[in-house]
Amino acid sequence: MNESNVTWIRGTKGPTPQLTDPSSSQTIPILVTGGAGFIGSNFVHGWLGPNLSGSRGALVNLDKLTYAGNAGNLIALAGRPDYTFVHGDIGDAALVAHLLEQHRPHALLHFAAESHVDRSIAGPDAFLRTNIEGTFALLQAVRAYLDGADSATRERFRFIHVSTDEVYGSLGPDDAAFHEDTPYAPNSPYAASKAASDHLVRAWTHTFGVPAIITNCSNNYGPYQFPEKLLPLMIANALAGKPLPVYGDGQQIRDWLFVADHCRALEAVLDGGRVGETYNIGGGNQRSNLEVVHAVCGLLDELVPGSPHRPHRALVRFVEDRPGHDRRYAIDASKIERELGWRALESFETGLRKTVEWYLANPAWIADVTSGAYRQWIDQNYGTRGGTTSAALAKAHA
Ligand code: NAD
Ligand code: DAU
Repeated sequence: MNESNVTWIRGTKGPTPQLTDPSSSQTIPILVTGGAGFIGSNFVHGWLGPNLSGSRGALVNLDKLTYAGNAGNLIALAGRPDYTFVHGDIGDAALVAHLLEQHRPHALLHFAAESHVDRSIAGPDAFLRTNIEGTFALLQAVRAYLDGADSATRERFRFIHVSTDEVYGSLGPDDAAFHEDTPYAPNSPYAASKAASDHLVRAWTHTFGVPAIITNCSNNYGPYQFPEKLLPLMIANALAGKPLPVYGDGQQIRDWLFVADHCRALEAVLDGGRVGETYNIGGGNQRSNLEVVHAVCGLLDELVPGSPHRPHRALVRFVEDRPGHDRRYAIDASKIERELGWRALESFETGLRKTVEWYLANPAWIADVTSGAYRQWIDQNYGTRGGTTSAALAKAHA
């Protein structure tokens, strides 16, 4: 990566970050956390556009580059004067305070999180640290920054807290979809940590006047999603002729949203959302996991006609279920549609086709992110679910 606009900071000992382009008319940046992850990198690309003329303005990206963060997702932005990358932890209060004072952003979009439910079951510690303590550190830093800011900055500033529908718990088959007043009932360590962070954001708005807005979104899919999550895992495994591990009976329901639609919703919330409010975001695409896996297989059968693994759905294996597995999520997105005029542009069918096509066009990206530590995770998560370790899979398909 070209280092000219990339500031690598560890703690506060690194070089001082520079405002990317002082001559630009849009020099007041936004600060994004977790912009090297799946949704964050899609947001960063959408915000900055393919070139400067399509940019919405300068953007500073603070990311710790955990296993889920990938600097390669943003390689196309190397050399862009409107983009600054900062390598660091949201829990580093001194670093965050420094970035706020240095860049004086007009908004903070908070994507950074530990985001994978299965990992939160295997080891919840990092989830509490980043999702709860990290969000707390950000809120305190923003509070101090705004206390010292002029009234115009205080008036304009927004803290957009990117959260999840999992805070609402699990729905029965006939229950109405989650709406903004649905009581919180998180079931996994991940969901509990996100629920806690939502409560902190709410309290900091109510008590200290931090101008925050919370968004709760359903399952995203699309380019740059790490293949530990259902869709990219199924695509990567099917392409490699490996088993497709479906938890339990595969009848759990998720409400799928193409990631670019989520990113557009976040821009709409930033532009017109009301401080102190929550907005639910979802695609209105309820599908069982088995339906989703079969849809992926059908697309691969069509798009890779020469594959030796056709029909790909023959690779499906039912494996031991996720502990505490939520049965159904569904989002009522009528508030954001009504108030902010947002609508999902992709149907599940069009979004899924784009997603599968992206993974087919980017085998090097898959190879890169599925090397090294990824294999240990696959062995750890699937090794006890019915013999689908990477070694067993390789043997079975040798
Ligand atoms: P992801 O796991 O792909 O990316 C998370 C990013 O945060 C990575 O780049 C990682 O390096 C970074 N990060 C982690 N800990 C950090 C820390 N302490 N300091 C700085 N950076 C850190 O996650 P995602 O799927 O892109 O999700 C982004 C946000 O959206 C999360 O807050 C998640 O809860 C929320 N969300 C996700 C979905 C979904 O379907 N993926 C749906 C609704 C809400
Ligand atoms: O609902 C929003 C949430 O969606 C986000 O907040 C989370 O960050 C995101 O990870 C996602 O959580 P899920 O647990 O729903 O996503 P995941 O892709 O891990 O699993 C989707 C469904 O597929 C779930 O019911 C579990 C199932 N599954 C998953 C994997 C990885 C399988 O059946 N097999 C698998 O191998």
